[in-house]
Amino acid sequence: MSARVPVIAVDGPGGTGKGTVCAAISSRLGWHLLDSGALYRALGLVATQRGLPLDDGASVAHLASGIRVSFSRGERAADPVRTTVNGADVTEEIRSEECGSAASRVAAHPAVRAGLLVEQRAFRRKPGLVADGRDMGTVVFPDADLKIYLTATAEVRAERRHKQLKQKGIDVSLRRLFEDMSERDRRDQARSVSPMQPAQDAMVIDTSRQDAAKVLETVWDLVCRCFPRQADQHN
Ligand code: DC
Repeated sequence: MSARVPVIAVDGPGGTGKGTVCAAISSRLGWHLLDSGALYRALGLVATQRGLPLDDGASVAHLASGIRVSFSRGERAADPVRTTVNGADVTEEIRSEECGSAASRVAAHPAVRAGLLVEQRAFRRKPGLVADGRDMGTVVFPDADLKIYLTATAEVRAERRHKQLKQKGIDVSLRRLFEDMSERDRRDQARSVSPMQPAQDAMVIDTSRQDAAKVLETVWDLVCRCFPRQADQHN
């Protein structure tokens, strides 16, 4: 029988530093990385491009079964993970606020989520997996070895996103960002399947008063406690 592959599940809303933490932890440990939000974003992008009504669950689920989303890591640890859909690079495109909102809408359909379940679980390969999302610890990997739920106030998260967008030269009003994020949170929390919520056995960390480096340090401490042998090689 093959050995069980360990999983670290990191869930929570956008703007909590989840993506940065997951990328850093997976690269330190040399483990695989699943950015499940990128799967939903890629699907939201293609559905929008093809003019599908995002509220039509059956059509979007059909589309999901026919497209191939893949990820590839750059040569250096700091390089972003590239996302392609049917061979086309959509890495930058899927990061827009519009795509985030489309992702949240397509992700609300039970048939879409069911279709992506097998695909997400296939990322669980040796030596281990760091999974980033909304339902990693509750639904996709309920037996994860370590479950972390990152949170922060909506105001702080909107400010962080605003700063990130400004650095990229994108000018969006903070108020608009706050409203869009709050609407997305409401939809992600209220959907009938896999709503965004901490698993009962998750460590909940409020990052409102912590900068990115401090959040990473806090999470790395938990990883070291849970996986002393694997983490030891990197300390
Ligand atoms: O983490 P993100 O901002 O890239 O996610 C975009 C949207 O995708 C999010 O608003 C809801 C959806 N999503 C989800 O429903 N389940 C996940 N595991 C990950 C993302």
